Amino acid sequence: MAALRDAVARVLTSDRASIRRLVHVPTTVAYRVEGDPSRSFTIRLDRRPCEVTDLEPSEIELTLSAAQAAQAATGELSLVAGVLSGAIAYRGPVRQYLEVEPIIRGALAEDAGYDDGAEHTRGAGVVGSRVDTGLLAIETRGLHKAFGSNAVLRGLDIGIPEGTITVVLGPSGTGKSVLLSHVIGVLQPDAGEVLIRGRSLKHMSRSDVLGLRRGIGVMFQDGALFSAMSVYDNVAFPLRQHTDLDEGEIRDVVEDRLDSVGMLYAIDRMPGELSGGMRKRAGLARALVLNPSLILCDEPDSGLDPVRTALLGDVLVEQHAAYGGTMIVVTHNIALAKRIADYMCVLWRGQLLAAGMAQELIASEEPFIQQFLAGASQGPLGMDA
Ligand SMILES: Nc1ncnc2c1ncn2[C@@H]1O[C@H](COP(=O)(O)OP(=O)(O)OP(=O)(O)O)[C@@H](O)[C@H]1O
Ligand SMILES: [Mg+2]
Repeated sequence: MAALRDAVARVLTSDRASIRRLVHVPTTVAYRVEGDPSRSFTIRLDRRPCEVTDLEPSEIELTLSAAQAAQAATGELSLVAGVLSGAIAYRGPVRQYLEVEPIIRGALAEDAGYDDGAEHTRGAGVVGSRVDTGLLAIETRGLHKAFGSNAVLRGLDIGIPEGTITVVLGPSGTGKSVLLSHVIGVLQPDAGEVLIRGRSLKHMSRSDVLGLRRGIGVMFQDGALFSAMSVYDNVAFPLRQHTDLDEGEIRDVVEDRLDSVGMLYAIDRMPGELSGGMRKRAGLARALVLNPSLILCDEPDSGLDPVRTALLGDVLVEQHAAYGGTMIVVTHNIALAKRIADYMCVLWRGQLLAAGMAQELIASEEPFIQQFLAGASQGPLGMDA
């Protein structure tokens, strides 16, 4: 088996989108392998491409046993498991590291041809994936939700890996928006629970849930702008609520955000004066304005033309690259999904049909997934799904 250092160096110079994204993380990580100084090294994640150098002072230090180093080289090592067992020492911006770690580890696993199947993931029909449940930003366990006789979520077990852009796909009416409403605590489960970064919403006080919600950037399916406020005031709203920025600073941030979604020219318009696509883009600017570490976007592309949809994909990827965190994007747009997703989940009839790294899902031979990703009318999925 290749030494950890070589494996990491090889992966970091690859041109995968997820690896390219790592250069935006201003973090250095030192790996020390006990008893084997030749395998100890530092990864500089802020270089393009990321660099593996000799051991040098770093923001985060991981000390691995030789056995752990071997596991790390195949992507098997769960950082969280290592931390919990006391085998890995670290300091510095651990949050940031946790966000990049699944990407490196997933890439290492792929590089090593490691395939350990579904045992690290939750849910039925999971496509082989190396993402472990120790690093989930969001998890649902046995989530049930019915509206009257309409059973929408039927024991949904889903895990959204930390540090990824996860795209949630599924037929219309299958419960995607209902799932997001549970994540922000707007809807309560009939049974089961939702965990955000390991904390169950069930056990949180109302004020804790509200505090948590403030840290989540949400772009609703309909844009959900405040109709009595201009576009400027809508995007400025979270800054006024949650920061001490003065009005000049707020204007700078708002203009910058609106520019990134191509809406600067409409800054003084009222929501009623916008097209559907414009409302969505203003909603996205507002969702991103505080650079939250958790972002939920419900069909950010609906109502956008193909060029703006592609540009919106770039905005999401750039945002994620610059600020890390976890992004959940619900969409019906397969091209957009393929463009931005690290990880994909497919919902069907209120359950998780499949989940896995984007490339694995795209390569899946499962007929439903194939039909869904190809947008084909022939297949197991009909109008009544
Ligand atoms: N507040 C509510 N009260 C009653 N029924 C609801 C409510 N919210 C959603 N539903 C129902 O739950 C089901 C799932 O709705 P949801 O909005 O989650 O679908 P979706 O997967 O997001 O679909 P789409 O892709 O069309 O947006 C639908 O049958 C819908 O009518
Ligand atoms: Mg929806």
